[in-house]
Amino acid sequence: MSAHEVVVTGAGQGIGAATAALFASRGWTVTVADLDGTAARAMADRLNADHPSSGGAHRGVGVDVTRENDAREVAAALTEAGRAASALVNCAGIIARMPAEEQDTDSWNRVLTVHLTGALNMSKALFPQLKTTGGSVVNIASVGSTFGLPGRLAYATAKSGVMGMTRTLAVEWGRYGIRVNAVAPGYVATEMVRSGLRTGALSEGALLARTPLKRLAEPEEIAAAIAFLASDDASFVNGAMLRVDGGLTVDGTF
Ligand SMILES: NC(=O)c1ccc[n+]([C@@H]2O[C@H](COP(=O)([O-])OP(=O)(O)OC[C@H]3O[C@@H](n4cnc5c(N)ncnc54)[C@H](O)[C@@H]3O)[C@@H](O)[C@H]2O)c1
Repeated sequence: MSAHEVVVTGAGQGIGAATAALFASRGWTVTVADLDGTAARAMADRLNADHPSSGGAHRGVGVDVTRENDAREVAAALTEAGRAASALVNCAGIIARMPAEEQDTDSWNRVLTVHLTGALNMSKALFPQLKTTGGSVVNIASVGSTFGLPGRLAYATAKSGVMGMTRTLAVEWGRYGIRVNAVAPGYVATEMVRSGLRTGALSEGALLARTPLKRLAEPEEIAAAIAFLASDDASFVNGAMLRVDGGLTVDGTF
């Protein structure tokens, strides 16, 4: 059994999948949790194939983070296996794009629930284990935690809330040796951004013009920052938002 155990939500694809792969490459055992259970299990199979030394310990599970019971089951499965999480990465996410005046209550509730209630459910469920291991939580913020994002009211509101949750848990759980931080990615080449490019809600030219590094991020670049915050190298980093946005949110050019 590896020394370190991590649970990554939303790890069936995108940033979560890249994060699961990076942790596994560093010898961590990964619970790949995703609403898409098939994608989660396929990802865990890939990790087990890529890292035979893990002895097939990586597991994929279908989890809806908005359901408190699903979160509890993830924690219970680890306990039953005699394991305890040293890190939780709350990467599950969805986006809704529409003018604010057309924002419907159902999609508003769903976006806020996935990002906020989901992170809360997982953090609460794994709290006893993180307390035992002196572990950490890494949440995923966004440029929407800094800027207003026209056409993405629910998403920007949720991502601002993620920072409120990150800071408050950092303060409240610091006494238990649990650190809580967030990574705030810029625009990353994943399905979330591709869907916006496909519909025309996002313009790649405008995104690149607005990003000092003049490119999208690769999911692996976000994973690297997440792994840093979960590692002992960040042992005194607590309540931080680490921007991994190519300089987007510090660019005052207009
Ligand atoms: N892609 C970007 O540019 C970008 C930028 C900033 C922040 N983020 C954030 O990073 C995180 C990952 O985004 P991504 O780009 O990899 O997106 P993605 O759409 O590629 O992957 C998101 C994953 O979350 C899963 N998911 C959705 N709802 C879930 C639920 N209720 N329970 C469990 N899993 C659920 C999906 O099945 C999917 O596998 C999200 O929180 C997103 O808001 C992304």
